[in-house]
Amino acid sequence: MSAGRAAIIGGTGFDLPEPGYREERVETAYGPAVLQVGGDGDPIFLPRHGPDRNIPPHLINYRANVAALAARGVDRVIATLAVGSIAEDLPPGATMVVDQLLDFTSGRRHTFFEGGSAGRRHVDVTDPFCPGLRARLIDAALRFGIHPRESGTYACANGPRLETAAEIRMYRLLGAHVVGMTAAPEAFLARERGLHYAALAVSINWAAGVRGRVHIDSDALTTMHERLLPVLRAALTQPPPAGCGCPDAD
Ligand code: HPA
Repeated sequence: MSAGRAAIIGGTGFDLPEPGYREERVETAYGPAVLQVGGDGDPIFLPRHGPDRNIPPHLINYRANVAALAARGVDRVIATLAVGSIAEDLPPGATMVVDQLLDFTSGRRHTFFEGGSAGRRHVDVTDPFCPGLRARLIDAALRFGIHPRESGTYACANGPRLETAAEIRMYRLLGAHVVGMTAAPEAFLARERGLHYAALAVSINWAAGVRGRVHIDSDALTTMHERLLPVLRAALTQPPPAGCGCPDAD
């Protein structure tokens, strides 16, 4: 079992409010990434949308972000994902531990394996989220009184625009429970780097057409995220149990 560091990738609205963290710029082969690093036992924090939270989903340098975490010795990551709800049992404010991913993005640098010296690999993503870390996340959430939907499918749209009602109907027909803009290629790159990666989706609106036009509830997001930080920390305390195969994918 590996004994690396833990990290949290924070999505929209998720800041790490802890004192003692300092910003660290990491140069990678894919460009720079900015991490927030605390003490040795603390999870490293990566604000997905950059230190000023102003990088839109389609322009995030996902490869630099994942490569920077790996370069700092991270072996397990929990990401938060702000989403719109497609499933009726996920009203805004609800959470879901994602287990499947539909990738509708385009034009993103989505792999480390670009041939030549970078290598040619086809990693297995049958289960794109680490089952062991998902189980830890569900346990921790329940211990802190949060009852997430314990599985579900995330459709990743390219954005930055929101979806049409017809697109959401299509995603629903394809089995999606939530829609967002950032889980792909992040989850796939984490797998390519052999990281254990799980994600907690937080609904901040009904998706387009589910209840008419989209109304984003940013307050729900802030309140929820304050409750989630101890959950994420607890879920990351131990490395996930061996046997999930994530590190072998690298
Ligand atoms: N669509 C796509 N991404 C999102 C949404 C949505 O409705 N809400 C939060 N992220």
